[in-house]
Parts: sequence; structure tokens; C-alpha cells
Amino acid sequence: MKGQIFSGAQPTGNLHLGNYLGAIKQWVALQEEYDCIFCIVDMHAITITQNADELRHNTREIAATYIAAGIDPKKNIIYNQSMVKQHAELAWILGCNTPMGWLSRMTQFKDKAGKNRDNAMLGLFSYPVLMAADILLFNTSHVPVGEDQKQHLELAREIATSFNHHYKTEAFVVPEPLIKQEAARVMSLRDGTEKMSKSAESDLSRINLSDDAETIAKKFKKAKADMEFDGIFYDKEKRPEISNLLTIYAALADISIRQAATQFAKSGNGDFKQSVADLAVEKLSPITNEVKHLMNDVAYLDSILKDGAEKAAEKAEKNLKTIKDIIGFVYF
Ligand code: AMP
Ligand code: TRP
Repeated sequence: MKGQIFSGAQPTGNLHLGNYLGAIKQWVALQEEYDCIFCIVDMHAITITQNADELRHNTREIAATYIAAGIDPKKNIIYNQSMVKQHAELAWILGCNTPMGWLSRMTQFKDKAGKNRDNAMLGLFSYPVLMAADILLFNTSHVPVGEDQKQHLELAREIATSFNHHYKTEAFVVPEPLIKQEAARVMSLRDGTEKMSKSAESDLSRINLSDDAETIAKKFKKAKADMEFDGIFYDKEKRPEISNLLTIYAALADISIRQAATQFAKSGNGDFKQSVADLAVEKLSPITNEVKHLMNDVAYLDSILKDGAEKAAEKAEKNLKTIKDIIGFVYF
């Protein structure tokens, strides 16, 4: 039997190069080997205040990006989370089996809630429980994500294990993370010690998948890079920004960081940045153009989401019933 993949991205703004190299590019390769479900996690998105029109737009744009990047909607299930109510149902059940202490340790919650924790929303706190529900709902064997999701995945594993133990069952498959080492953490172009993120203030810090060729070239040209060394080499401590650019180049070219470093060993910063920009434009432009094209056909995108949601709901309901039986819920 093929393994089951589940992964997702939040429709909270433009997807960027980090999302692409850390997650989506992997998904495209995995669809050959696994049964795959790729979700647009709109229920996760509302843990931070969203504008309704933007949320709707972003949900469709993410669906378009998955397809444009090469995920085949005929072979895989693509849908938005809120269309499948079993996510919320299982999240409640798991929430009744997750100690608050486990959630208090989540670094993402600490970062996002900031100092004033009492004012943080319950949904932001319980977010990892919903994420565990997403994964456990489908007997997922593998979860391909970037490194920032590692802690949430470990929690999902703990929740699955403790539920199985408590109810003396093996109902939940304990999922394995798939974190591709090379591009697991793409860093900001302005600060090589911060990860590239949708929410960073400076747009120059990230390459959005919607950026045109000129913008991509400009952003790489302006990317921070040290001046005190000759040639290009990888050293994350001494040269975080150049090392990040090498990582990006290697991931885009499907070569190792070592190979990329050899290729540019004698280059100057300017030439090297130009090569990274050229390759990024070459690889990303077809995706960007296809996203634009698909966004003109909302009816098509919606038909994919609807079809995906129906298929996902059928699988989810079957698994949820098993859990309801174990717990002792009466259902008809
Ligand atoms: P998000 O946009 O936060 O929903 O993330 C979607 C996917 O992209 C997740 O698997 C993240 O781990 C991954 N991701 C986000 N930012 C980065 C980054 N800077 N480098 C690598 N992967 C990332
Ligand atoms: N929390 C993930 C992120 O912010 C998105 C996500 C939600 C997810 N549910 C998931 C990823 C389940 C993998 C599996 O990137």
C-alpha cells in the first residue's frame, strides 16, 4: 500500500520562495510515490485577524499555486480545510486529550502571542491541536513541511501516541515528518539569521511567487551580502546571507550546496547574485504566469476545491467514525 501524505499552507498572503523550496517543490515530487492530500488551511489562517475578501482571494490563489507548481489535481486531493467539518470535530476530541502544558511550550505561540498572553486568542493557542487533527484525520504516514513546523509535528506525534495509549488502540497512525534538509529553512534576503516569512515588514526580504522577473532581479541585487571575503563559500556562521543564497541556488538547480559552492568559488558577489536571480526567474516565471492564468478562471479553481473537499470528507468521515466508536460517542 502507498503511504499517505498530508500537508498544507495558510492562505495568509503571498506564498514566497521559502514556501516553495521548503514545502511545495517537495510535494510535487512526492505525488508520484504517495497518495497525497494538499490542503489550504483557512481555519488556521483565522488564528490571526483576516480580511474576508483577501482570505477568499488568497485561498483560490494558493489552490492556483499548487496546481501551477505541478501538483496534479486529478491525482491528488486539493481542498480548503473549512469545507471539511471533520477537521473541527477531531480537533475538539484531541483538545480533550492534550495537556495545556504541551501547548504552552510551542515557540510559535510564544512568538506570535508576544508579551500579552492573556489577550491572545484561544485559537492561536490551540492551533497545533487543529494541525494534529488535520494530519491524524487521514491516517497520514508522512508530512512534508519546512523546519519551522517540526515542533508542531512532534506534538502531533505525541497526541497520537498518548491517545492510542489511553484508549488501548492503534487507531491513529503516528506520522513521520519529511523535512528536506537543504532548503528546510530559507532565510530572509535582508537578514540571514531570520527566516523568510510572509509577515516580515520589508517586501525586499522575500521573493513572492507573484513577483515579476524585474522585481525578482531587483530583490536579489539588493540582497544583503558581506563584502569582507573573496569568492563565494558556504559558512552559515560567518556568512549567513551568502550561505542562504547558495542554499537557494542549489535548491532551485537541484544540486547540492557543495556543488553550488564549487561552481561559484571564484565569483564575485555581484555575478553570483545575478546567477541566483537568473535561475530564480527561469524557475519561477512559468509558475507565476500559470497562477495568473488560473486566477482568471475562478469557476475551474472552485470546481477543484469542491471535488477535493468531497473526496476528503468521505475519507475523513470514515476515520472519524472509528474514533467516535473508541470514545463511546453514539452516532447514526
Ligand atoms: P505557511 O505559509 O506558514 O503556511 O507555510 C507553508 C509551508 O512552507 C510549511 O511547510 C512551512 O514549513 C514552509 N515554510 C514557510 N516558510 C519557510 C521558509 N522560510 N523556509 C522553508 N520552508 C518554509
Ligand atoms: N501549520 C502549518 C504552517 O503554518 C500549516 C499546516 C496546518 C499544516 N495543518 C497542517 C502543515 C498539517 C502540515 C500538516 O505552515
